[in-house]
Amino acid sequence: MNITLRIGILTVSDRSARGERPDTSGPALAGVIASQGWEVVCQAILPDELTALRQTLVAWAARGDLDIILTTGGTGFSPRDVTPEATAAVVERMAPGLAEAMRAASLQVTPHAMLSRAVCGIRGKTIIVNLPGSPKAAVENFRVVLPVLAHAVELLREAPEAESHH
Ligand code: MTE
Repeated sequence: MNITLRIGILTVSDRSARGERPDTSGPALAGVIASQGWEVVCQAILPDELTALRQTLVAWAARGDLDIILTTGGTGFSPRDVTPEATAAVVERMAPGLAEAMRAASLQVTPHAMLSRAVCGIRGKTIIVNLPGSPKAAVENFRVVLPVLAHAVELLREAPEAESHH
């Protein structure tokens, strides 16, 4: 059975938060989500600020209507890039396989994939996935984990039927 995933998109960019650059990664991810028949429940743009990012991730996970939070941006080596730190601070359980798969696949595209410090993990019943900042890289990475997300969410929702399909 197909389940509808409910997803929040958090664009992390100083310049987009200041209105100096349009957010193209958030809408690009929203397009992929819509093409799956999934739902974008909320969307926001934040600057690269650790405290604000942490607070928003905590608040969004507490909403109760988000299966997944996708962040885009702030995962590189620039001094301002703190999205992985904000994510690591709020997740209760790490999900390193998602980040490993994204980096492994992205290495086939560019050696710069090694510069992604993206973190993935679980807070409550919400999966948080860090994606890179550019729309191209964000979509490429999202497409890597996309095929396993419905099953991951089923397991988190503790749907009994998820067990028998292994
Ligand atoms: N992954 C894919 N698939 N395609 C890309 O173009 N760009 C990389 C990497 N991952 C890229 C990618 C680059 S250049 C960087 S610096 C890191 O993701 C982190 O990106 P961010 O700083 O925008 O978050």
